Amino acid sequence: MNLVGRHLIDPSNFSLEEIDHILTIARDMEKNTRKYSEVCKGKILATCFYEPSTRTRLSFESAMLRLGGSVLGFSDAANSSASKGESVSDTVRVMDAYSDIVVMRHNREGAPKLASQYSSVPIINGGDGGHQHPTQTLTDLLTIKNLKGEIKDLKVALCGDLKYGRTVHSLLKTLARYENMSFYLVSPEALKIPSYIKEYVVSNYNVEIIETDNLDEAISKVDVLYMTRIQRERFFNEEDYVKLKDSYILTKNKIQPAKEDMLIMHPLPRVNEIYCDVDDDKRAVYFYQAKCGVYVRMSLMANLLGVLDDVDCK
Ligand code: CP
Repeated sequence: MNLVGRHLIDPSNFSLEEIDHILTIARDMEKNTRKYSEVCKGKILATCFYEPSTRTRLSFESAMLRLGGSVLGFSDAANSSASKGESVSDTVRVMDAYSDIVVMRHNREGAPKLASQYSSVPIINGGDGGHQHPTQTLTDLLTIKNLKGEIKDLKVALCGDLKYGRTVHSLLKTLARYENMSFYLVSPEALKIPSYIKEYVVSNYNVEIIETDNLDEAISKVDVLYMTRIQRERFFNEEDYVKLKDSYILTKNKIQPAKEDMLIMHPLPRVNEIYCDVDDDKRAVYFYQAKCGVYVRMSLMANLLGVLDDVDCK
């Protein structure tokens, strides 16, 4: 498995075997965190965040600190020289000299890919506009694997803003690669999954996809319900957002017909789409999911930096 020096821009950059390898190491890191506490000693992670983040940036930081490395970066384009007009390509060429690995979040689709073309250190896409969010997908996969045992033979509902939601774009493209998966894509007409993603999945993988605007139709049938926020920041006008913002609201009452072992997932942050009365339900796993993000990002960085040769990872 040679992941050393690679970039992660889109989940398709890694084979399923490579993804499963990252998950396996992440599981060991969760169980035996101390074993890995110095593997990144002397390594520096740069966090270049041009868009707000709580989980992605801080779980990357936590991950690097738990591996014994150090972190530098910016959490707002306004506090970087981007505010003076510096290009992504110039910024990343400077980061090359300051760090060993870079995670970048940007409002512009394709910015991390552009950065990877100018960087000699690994670039990780921490979310680019309404496009992709591959490390959220690794987080989601680890959550499902830990709680379901295997990632196969699952019916998954992806619900909410499927048009602008980068987490669902990456997750659908990746889950479709596993054995015998089927999907309900639940959204209002105006927020359907982009046709280029649906066509990619249907033409490359043998999966069943049902598109509907009716969450009740899906809820009793699925093994995983993945809720998402309506992405206010991607709308061109507030009026359209207001019309759609409460399209789906999950409540204790609404999940009554669901399977006993259905997972309720959400990449977070949530706004109004899952009521707090669902939080105590044993099926609600979104805070555990956020925790999985630390271990999977530890594993990802350790693999890209090639620091695991002297560690027994099993
Ligand atoms: N899930 C996720 O990307 O959260 P943040 O926007 O807080 O990083």
